[in-house]
Amino acid sequence: GKDGYRHYMEKELHEHPVVIGQTLQRLIDPATRRVVMPDLPFDLAAVQRVVLTACGSAFYAGMIGRYWIEQYARLPVDIDVASEMRYRNPPLTRGGLGLLISQSGETADTLAALRGMREAGQHIVSVLNVEQSTMARESDAVLGTVAGPEISVASTKAFTAQLSVLACLTIALGRARGLIGPAQEESMVTNLLDLPSKATEVFERHDEIRRMATIVADARDVLYLGRGAMFPVALEGALKLKEITYIHAEAYAAGEMKHGPISLIDNTVPVVATVPSGPLFEKTLSNLQEARARGGRLLVFTDMAGAPRLREIAECVVAIPTVDEFVAPILQTIPVQILAYEVALLKGTDVDQPRNLAKSVTVE
Ligand code: F6R
Repeated sequence: GKDGYRHYMEKELHEHPVVIGQTLQRLIDPATRRVVMPDLPFDLAAVQRVVLTACGSAFYAGMIGRYWIEQYARLPVDIDVASEMRYRNPPLTRGGLGLLISQSGETADTLAALRGMREAGQHIVSVLNVEQSTMARESDAVLGTVAGPEISVASTKAFTAQLSVLACLTIALGRARGLIGPAQEESMVTNLLDLPSKATEVFERHDEIRRMATIVADARDVLYLGRGAMFPVALEGALKLKEITYIHAEAYAAGEMKHGPISLIDNTVPVVATVPSGPLFEKTLSNLQEARARGGRLLVFTDMAGAPRLREIAECVVAIPTVDEFVAPILQTIPVQILAYEVALLKGTDVDQPRNLAKSVTVE
């Protein structure tokens, strides 16, 4: 049941902290603060390329995985949505890592892409929530997300669970390639293990998120912005808003704004930006100043360290705990999903069963 929550989505949003903790528990030894991968039928150190695919929210989790794998394991990652990947027939060298991400393990396009990758000689590793699924049976290894059943059509907790697995896989790859030493591994693992308590603190920002929601609920169009690993967080926010509120939303990499979408901006199009402190903070801030100069109303998700600067220019600021750049996308996803939920409440839509959508897309 819904355990007293109004919707499954609300209940599942509140499960983020627990789900992140449970998922990490499977892949981390807390005593040694090291990642412990299940036995794989191939050598991670021998992997020279990664080809990654998924659909919808799972694809956005994969985009964050690409930033991590490129940055921390220095492995090239080719990524595309599964409906494209399955027909692209990309040239793949045998022995690469084929990485699939799916909550259900039944998504038709992702499954077809998996089969294509297998035929092209890739080692198949799937990040799955349903471990008795078709994709699980057809994979060389399954990395399980321990999110429990996700009932709400809009995915929430599965996303942070997928990121938790991808973060551990990144550490394992970086270690296998000699790029992440014991001290760095310990510090990355510590940052991951701190997430459940930090995620709980995000819910203390509920009133500010609700105030943001009143502005978004009145809009016809909303622009979401982010840079680096926050770009997929923006994509996830826009998708969630479209799915459950039927408000049109677009997400852009903040640096792309001046190449087109800035022409949309006026005081009727709220700009929702995810801008935690870190190396891309100043760059994103200047993109926001450009939007502000054109009358854009800025609604910003940041962390405690970034908040003072953003309060000078933004109409609403939601500041969550400051965490290391590596794990920030996991934490920043939570308030963005809560925003969509709060807007849906104001709009009175059918939150758990949005029109035209099915939980599992088993036909092409
Ligand atoms: C978004 C959503 C969908 C799914 C997509 C993939 O809220 O629920 O975009 O993420 O259909 O589904 P799985 O992960 O089951 O392959």
